[in-house]
Amino acid sequence: MQRIVFPKNFLWGVATSSYQIEGAWKEDGKGESIWDRFTHIPGKIANGDTGDVACDHYHLYREDVKLLKELGVKTYRLSISWPRVFPEGKGSPNKAGMEFYINLIKLLVDNGIKPAVTLYHWDLPQKLQDIGGWANKAVIDYYEQYAEYVFKELGSMVPIWITHNEPWVVSFEGNWQGVIAPGITDFSTALLVSHNLLVSHGRAVRLYRKMGFKGEIGITLNLVPMYPASQSEEDIEAAKRGDGFYNRWFLDPIFKGAYPSDMLEWYSQRVVVPEITREDLEIINTPIDFLGVNYYSSGHVKAEPGIWPLDAINVPTGRDKTDSGWEINPQGLYDLLVRLHKDYKGIKIMITENGAAFNDIINREGNIEDDCRLDYLYRHFVEAHRAIQDGVNLKGYYVWSFLDNFEWADGYTKRFGLVYVDYATQKRILKRSGRWYREVIKNNGF
Ligand code: FCB
Repeated sequence: MQRIVFPKNFLWGVATSSYQIEGAWKEDGKGESIWDRFTHIPGKIANGDTGDVACDHYHLYREDVKLLKELGVKTYRLSISWPRVFPEGKGSPNKAGMEFYINLIKLLVDNGIKPAVTLYHWDLPQKLQDIGGWANKAVIDYYEQYAEYVFKELGSMVPIWITHNEPWVVSFEGNWQGVIAPGITDFSTALLVSHNLLVSHGRAVRLYRKMGFKGEIGITLNLVPMYPASQSEEDIEAAKRGDGFYNRWFLDPIFKGAYPSDMLEWYSQRVVVPEITREDLEIINTPIDFLGVNYYSSGHVKAEPGIWPLDAINVPTGRDKTDSGWEINPQGLYDLLVRLHKDYKGIKIMITENGAAFNDIINREGNIEDDCRLDYLYRHFVEAHRAIQDGVNLKGYYVWSFLDNFEWADGYTKRFGLVYVDYATQKRILKRSGRWYREVIKNNGF
């Protein structure tokens, strides 16, 4: 079999987020987040699960950094819980909360692991949701103040920053579908939220530059390559709308300084579109150092008049699925990377998430032989490598996830980790996929 070797210094990593692993939801002065609120409402999360304890990473982080070291990762992507640092979302910081991140980051650096820090991975302080959340422009100012404090405390130790994780999900799943926090169901609100998130992104990038740090800063988008279900004109148009909705709505203002005109027109004819000023667009268009790409699956779009919001539906193609019900399409990753490279001027890319949920079973020897996950990763790594061969400027790859964790509305029913977590005992077991990934990192290929 052909050997696959990645470029020298390729950044192999794993990713997590604060709410999904930390637990300690009201310790050491931490404030309530919209996820603390949302998960405690009966019926919102599978099995009534919450992130109150999760992987108890807040207390077990030293052990977890040891595990990261054992895995041999070059970099670790984590996020900061805003309400741990600013319990009210603004005002005076909670020193004890910040301490936790300072200690964690120091430990990573001491172990030769590059921290990649996401400022916002969905856990907004509830106090800010009480004044309208991201739909309120004032929250952009509070986000900037929060970012300033975190940059000041951690900026000299952290080489990679991510302003936001998946603004599409925050906007549309959180404020239109209502399936994740804050659970609002209004499309115009979702559009307004998407715009304010993007402005806050640009403001954080400008602030970071102004403060004179040497590291890199970017944003992470969940991108979904969209294929028409047939070659009919209607399906091709519908797939274009799907691409506009998921991808171009975020990519175009960031890289081209303008929202896609087809989508602006589509939305304007149906809902209230937020006021967008020239100044907003300039801020969003502030140059970034890299684009973070989260890739899990692709879309196959069929025109279906009357189906809100795009007059379209996603149709199954018969491919194998992960436990999340997401179709496995490794070639979609290749297509996406090549397209980003072409349409957005060779931008530097990091895959900030890719991975799969499967129903892991501990065998009689106490091991987890998760071949499905290994196979999923193998096939996606091959496609990423092929994209690099074809000129894509891909510099790193973070597997989602380091640990099994709290998978939002699915609670603990979906396991994504390279490391198994026994939630009753907090015991960690490296899965077969994790043992294989360790070798991939060591050999910079396979
Ligand atoms: C992404 C999220 C991440 C994780 C994966 C499975 O949408 O960014 O937190 O839940 O999905």
